[in-house]
Amino acid sequence: GSPVFKQATESAAFIRSKLPRVLHTPRVAIVCGSGLGGIASTINQDVSVEIAYSGIPNFPKTTVQGHAGKLVAAFMGDSKVPVLLLVGRAHFYEGHAMEMVSFATRVCKVMGVETMLMTNAAGGLNPDYRVGDIVVLNDHLNLAGLVGFHPLRGPNAEDFGVRFPPLSDAYDLGLRQKAYQVWQQIKPSGSGRRVHEGVYAFVAGPTYETRAECRLLHTLGADVVGMSTVPEIVVARHCGMKILAFSLVTNQAVLQPVPRGDDAALSSMTPAELEAYLSKGKANHEEVLEAGQEAAVDMQNLVKQIVSTL
Ligand code: HPA
Repeated sequence: GSPVFKQATESAAFIRSKLPRVLHTPRVAIVCGSGLGGIASTINQDVSVEIAYSGIPNFPKTTVQGHAGKLVAAFMGDSKVPVLLLVGRAHFYEGHAMEMVSFATRVCKVMGVETMLMTNAAGGLNPDYRVGDIVVLNDHLNLAGLVGFHPLRGPNAEDFGVRFPPLSDAYDLGLRQKAYQVWQQIKPSGSGRRVHEGVYAFVAGPTYETRAECRLLHTLGADVVGMSTVPEIVVARHCGMKILAFSLVTNQAVLQPVPRGDDAALSSMTPAELEAYLSKGKANHEEVLEAGQEAAVDMQNLVKQIVSTL
């Protein structure tokens, strides 16, 4: 086997050694993004095992605030579906190589996972989107990948998949249809939260985008922008797993051009007015985590209901 297949097999064997037999072959893996770790509360607590990433051989160390870094094996809700929750993920901006960012995805495959359900926090580029809306991804722009930071770069791991995998059907239609059906059944009245379908632009981070970059990405056809998920999706598709991915819109990217230095209206503002004007729409990590908490319950229910019907 390929080196990465051996490593993933070693990690999978370690994880299995900590689990009761009924959880040895999870059907679905759920990746919980920034502020979305609450999905862990939807599992059936009766039979559940938590394993810190730090104890798993070959796993990358995660470092971001709001990402606890643990694996939870359990049954989803009252269903008989064994799942693996990945609470927290490794990001490229932390310094990990793309192969490491997507390593846990390979471990899922080796353990028998058929479907990956990904969640993330993302900035909204589509002007119709509001903070708290949920976006079902139907395509992506792998910006880092297009210029050579790609998780499948290097000798192909034949034991996972082919050299040149297609991605034109990466986001499973049946699962997306299921997501809408479930949302129609469970959507709380009066919350104003909406579900869209859109394109995710993957950027390396860790800076949030400039205004000009937001306009660039929007012009290229992206509806949301974020710093995760795409490397995992690429690796999951390479080895034939099905994908359903959700972005939670945690902030609206600023599409308006920067204020001009020669704008007379600005020079007559008080410092406080100017400060308020300039910071409008400025992204920050706290805001991203807060929006996650508010929307977490709806997202949790959506994920739980979908997985229970798989
Ligand atoms: N840009 C990139 N990543 C993000 C954003 C954003 O605006 N919000 C949450 N993750």
